[in-house]
Amino acid sequence: MNGKNAWKQLWLAYDKKKELGNGVYVEKVSLIGFDEENRVVKSALQELKKGVSGMLGVTAEVTEKDAEAKGLVLKKCDELPKESYSIKEEGGKLTLMAGDENGLLYGVFHLLRQISMEKKLSGMNVTCKPDNPLRMYNHWDNMDGSIERGYSGNSFFFVKNDIVIDERTRDYARLVASVGINGVVINNVNVKQAASWLISDRFFEKVAELSKIFADYGIKFFLSLNFAATIELGGLDSADPLDERVIAWWKEKMKECFAKIPNLGGFLVKADSEGRPGPFTYGRTQADGANMLAEAVRPYGGIIIWRCFVYNCKQDWRDYKTDRARAGYDNFIQMDGDYAENVILQIKNGPMDFQIREPISPLLGGLKKTNQMLEVQVAQEYTGHQIDVCYLIPMFKEVLDFHTYCKPGADTVADVISGRTMGNQNTGIAAVINTGNDANWTGNDLAAANLYGFGRLAYQTSLSAGDILDEWIPMQISTDPEVIKVIKDILLRSRETYEKYTSPLGIGWMVTPHDHYGCSVDGYEYDRWGTYHRADHLGIGVDRSDKGTGYAQQYYEPNATAYNSVESCPEELLLFFHHVPYTHVLKTGKTLIQHIYDSHFEGYDEAEGFAKAWDGLEGKVDAEVFANVKERFGRQLANARDWRDQVNTYFYRKSGIPDEKGRTIY
Ligand code: GCU
Repeated sequence: MNGKNAWKQLWLAYDKKKELGNGVYVEKVSLIGFDEENRVVKSALQELKKGVSGMLGVTAEVTEKDAEAKGLVLKKCDELPKESYSIKEEGGKLTLMAGDENGLLYGVFHLLRQISMEKKLSGMNVTCKPDNPLRMYNHWDNMDGSIERGYSGNSFFFVKNDIVIDERTRDYARLVASVGINGVVINNVNVKQAASWLISDRFFEKVAELSKIFADYGIKFFLSLNFAATIELGGLDSADPLDERVIAWWKEKMKECFAKIPNLGGFLVKADSEGRPGPFTYGRTQADGANMLAEAVRPYGGIIIWRCFVYNCKQDWRDYKTDRARAGYDNFIQMDGDYAENVILQIKNGPMDFQIREPISPLLGGLKKTNQMLEVQVAQEYTGHQIDVCYLIPMFKEVLDFHTYCKPGADTVADVISGRTMGNQNTGIAAVINTGNDANWTGNDLAAANLYGFGRLAYQTSLSAGDILDEWIPMQISTDPEVIKVIKDILLRSRETYEKYTSPLGIGWMVTPHDHYGCSVDGYEYDRWGTYHRADHLGIGVDRSDKGTGYAQQYYEPNATAYNSVESCPEELLLFFHHVPYTHVLKTGKTLIQHIYDSHFEGYDEAEGFAKAWDGLEGKVDAEVFANVKERFGRQLANARDWRDQVNTYFYRKSGIPDEKGRTIY
């Protein structure tokens, strides 16, 4: 069990009194055009009452159906799009208009945010509508209670191959709904053992109960599927998507799933990837597999989210031609346009795997006739395990702002996944989530900025990384301007700092194999995973130009040309695209080897600066939070020191070129 009240409320902690002093009344609430009995409306009203009672000490009551002269009016407005709202204050009367129930819920959370940040309600005049139709969190929770790439305890959905439902489930739904999440996948994409049976009588009852909690907060419920369920559950000898028996089995199964699980949105599928079964086994295409399932869920309005993380994970490091970075594009581009309307291809932000710096996947926008969804990772698998501080929103912003050149005027990744490029509806953004059953949900208290930030960014892509912190810090940590300044500075710089003390200029992968925390420069160099840096005594990097693996040519112009040459390649990605001598002079005037040394020393020093700045907050932030983050900074420093010294030593030994500044290298 999760233990009652053993967990924190994060940015929804309403226990601190807030000062607004603005003469806007929220005690009297009129509800117009909405059904008070609707489950989402109920949640919105409950939340409103809870929030204003906790933060303002007033009791909000839905008194009459008519607008009060002063008070809060919640009103349905058909002119506003789905999930949208506007809030306006005039003469002490606050009017929240919403396009639908989700819009109402999001509007209420906006209001509570405003109160929590101690911003005045008077003079409010905002209209907000979501940029992305689907805004999802993907859990990699296993049914035994473990979490794949989880760094904050165990699952709060599953224990010992069973489903857990308690107050924490509801608090989870509240937290993610408060930032605009409208879809959740509760189980790991690697569907094995008990998880394969989530779509059977063994679990239907509890799954249905769980899905209803999400329904209360306007969140569609999704499951990850085992593509070989026909064999493992159905007793067939095949999972061939074109086999009539397989097709019939899935049709029947989906009929059952949608009948038994209310609020089911559809399924997420990892097929033909890292040992998971898929259509390739039967000589079929990814489209054959996805479309077969899509046809089975179509009668119920369901969707199939099909992951593009398909690559050969049994490579030979001696082979310089096979390039893992190419795989997503090579496996999916030819079938552009062949996917059913209710299939969405879910594409990781980079062509490899959530490294601290990668180019944007050329499949995003490369596909021109297929529904696309961006997948990012809020769980810090390669970015510090929620021990090291790493605020990821700046990275996600870069991804969203990237020009793919797929269509004049609507060519950024944000355009593609919002539906603006193709005028389609089944699009969006998903993140692998960073939660677990730790009391603070995210291991490091500062990692909650990513949990919060992803949702806000998914709803409103135009928010900057700093805007999001201006909301999150006062809501969760402190409204003290000095505290805000210190934490904001740490978080906004943290990604680059992490990058500086880990792997240089886009090369990635110098991590401890499997675990992915800590340095091991050659850890993956002679392995089967296709993740090589190719360092020798003269230079480092992978030639992905037209003279190498040709990966750079997967982009539209002018990106293809820019990436193709050392001169025009953005330097932060230089080693991803090119094999470069250590003596190569960068735009800063430094040689590559000197850049490696300098950035590693700098990265460590910056991390040390963060730890010191945090120490200065003692007594100014909650003592538990202070201790939690301080302890993590201690571990981050040890990690940064190891990275610095191992990387610098490695390249010094390879190149024989000393540090110009004569610092200690071992
Ligand atoms: C990475 C990660 C795996 C995960 C996989 C995926 O390889 O290390 O744990 O299963 O990504 O995204 O499917």
